[in-house]
Amino acid sequence: EVTIEAVPPQVAEDNNVLLLVHNLPLALGAFAWYKGNPVSTNAEIVHFVTGTNKTTTGPAHSGRETVYSNGSLLIQRVTVKDTGVYTIEMTDENFRRTEATVQFHVHQPVTQPSLQVTNTTVKELDSVTLTCLSNDIGANIQWLFNSQSLQLTERMTLSQNNSILRIDPIKREDAGEYQCEISNPVSVKRSNSIKLDIIFDPHHHHHH
Ligand SMILES: *[C@@H]1O[C@H](CO)[C@@H](O)[C@H](O)[C@H]1NC(C)=O
Ligand SMILES: *[C@@H]1O[C@H](CO)[C@@H](O)[C@H](O)[C@H]1NC(C)=O
Ligand SMILES: *[C@@H]1O[C@H](CO)[C@@H](O)[C@H](O)[C@H]1NC(C)=O
Ligand SMILES: *[C@@H]1O[C@H](CO)[C@@H](O)[C@H](O)[C@H]1NC(C)=O
Repeated sequence: EVTIEAVPPQVAEDNNVLLLVHNLPLALGAFAWYKGNPVSTNAEIVHFVTGTNKTTTGPAHSGRETVYSNGSLLIQRVTVKDTGVYTIEMTDENFRRTEATVQFHVHQPVTQPSLQVTNTTVKELDSVTLTCLSNDIGANIQWLFNSQSLQLTERMTLSQNNSILRIDPIKREDAGEYQCEISNPVSVKRSNSIKLDIIFDPHHHHHH
């Protein structure tokens, strides 16, 4: 059975992706690549006749696609718009058609996030709110404390998408360097780091 593999399945913008066809039938008259599924004539990228190695480009050919006699399709310098499903339609010597599909996703690298805090100097047992600002809506957000992954305590709460970290009440052990980290499947970027100082407030302090 024919299977197609996108290498890699998650592509950074401007990179190349190879749609690798495994087990292309030997007795094939022709095959064609299309953007999308179901296929339509105006979404044809390229048509290849196996007997003659004749390649004909279709209306959806952007000039960045190369087809090989083994069926594989190379797409160079991908853009976010190239994201989607691709179909190879194979026509055997009896003009019977079969299809196989594959999909890949193109991502722009994330930009550097910026970290803000209500106050870098906090009295012990007060609260503090750290906000991770990012242009990359929907990207994954992680928090770092002294360059290590932040271990959440019961005093810490995160907003739904992790962009806001609240510590209430704050304790001395929370003093240190905070950073947030934004990532998507092709890139990762860390924010500026913010040093939190916790000051001792005798009026607040409870002795054991
Ligand atoms: C098909 O040919 C391309 C280009 O030579 C190569 O990169 C790819 O590995 C081949 N695919 C298979 C399944 O052998
Ligand atoms: C088609 O290309 C393949 C691989 O490059 C080659 O082995 C074959 O001889 C070519 N056939 C024709 C008819 O040119
Ligand atoms: C930050 O907190 C400290 C200690 O509570 C306070 O003295 C200072 O005025 C605060 N700074 C700002 C900008 O709110
Ligand atoms: C996280 O959610 C907030 C509030 O809904 C939004 O403003 C922000 O852009 C989101 N951040 C990311 C990285 O998606």
